[in-house]
Amino acid sequence: MLIVQLTDTHVVARGKGAYRDQIDTNGMIASAIDRVNALRPRPDCVIITGDLTDHGTLDEYAELVRQLERLELPFYLVIGNHDHRDTMLAALDYPHLTGVGPFVQYTVEHHPVRLIMLDSTSDVHHMGAFCEARRAWLEARLAEAPERPTVVALHHPPFDTGITLMDAAGPAWAQGLVETLARHPNIERVLCGHIHRSIQTLVGGRLVSVCPSTAHQVTLDLGAEPQEGGFFEMEPPGFQIHLWQDGRMITHTALVERYPEVFPLSAEMLARIREMTPGQMMLKKDLAF
Ligand SMILES: [Fe+2]
Ligand SMILES: [Fe+2]
Repeated sequence: MLIVQLTDTHVVARGKGAYRDQIDTNGMIASAIDRVNALRPRPDCVIITGDLTDHGTLDEYAELVRQLERLELPFYLVIGNHDHRDTMLAALDYPHLTGVGPFVQYTVEHHPVRLIMLDSTSDVHHMGAFCEARRAWLEARLAEAPERPTVVALHHPPFDTGITLMDAAGPAWAQGLVETLARHPNIERVLCGHIHRSIQTLVGGRLVSVCPSTAHQVTLDLGAEPQEGGFFEMEPPGFQIHLWQDGRMITHTALVERYPEVFPLSAEMLARIREMTPGQMMLKKDLAF
């Protein structure tokens, strides 16, 4: 199974740019969708882990719908702190969001890996939130299929990243979530966004992966104090591909833009590689660089 993860698309109203018109997030999600549509083999689905829009308004969700009409794969949406819960649920008429509420939490059952989508947003602040009601819902869902390989997706990573600007609130909000993750070894990956760059760590024994944004990236500043200057940088935008193979989840980070190919394999080398059987070693004399 191949799961593509896009995140933090920050779509704005048609014809506009994000962050005082400085970032063409709409053009950038369009490029990411082109790239995902061209992937071979074809992924099974796409997860978008929040901050779907920049301000959570109806016209931004209308633009998101227009953009997603071009995506040729099934997709599932997660809410982020830039989204608005009621507006999102009112504006998006997708089967996976039907009947969802009050929190934007649901499961996807028909893939080899079960998907559990969580709502880590607050009505009043930008930081992560995970109340007892959400935790009880997650516990109940996990109890339904304790043996199934499962991916949990939520917007806010449940750990401090070392980027002090993003860590201001600390990780206490996620304590209950971390305890739940620790008790369920069938959770093969926890997929997050929000930090706008690729980050991985273990939390409660589970591997948590943060995906780069399809748009701007958060400046990589690991200093003890936040510094004046750019909050964001226009590094090459990226996404992740999570491959479920041989009973493990393998995460690849990819860039939206394609770069020139070099050193094409010759027909002879390709034939030699195709002839190889499992366990057979490639001899230095057969593959010369
Ligand atoms: Fe974001
Ligand atoms: Fe966010």
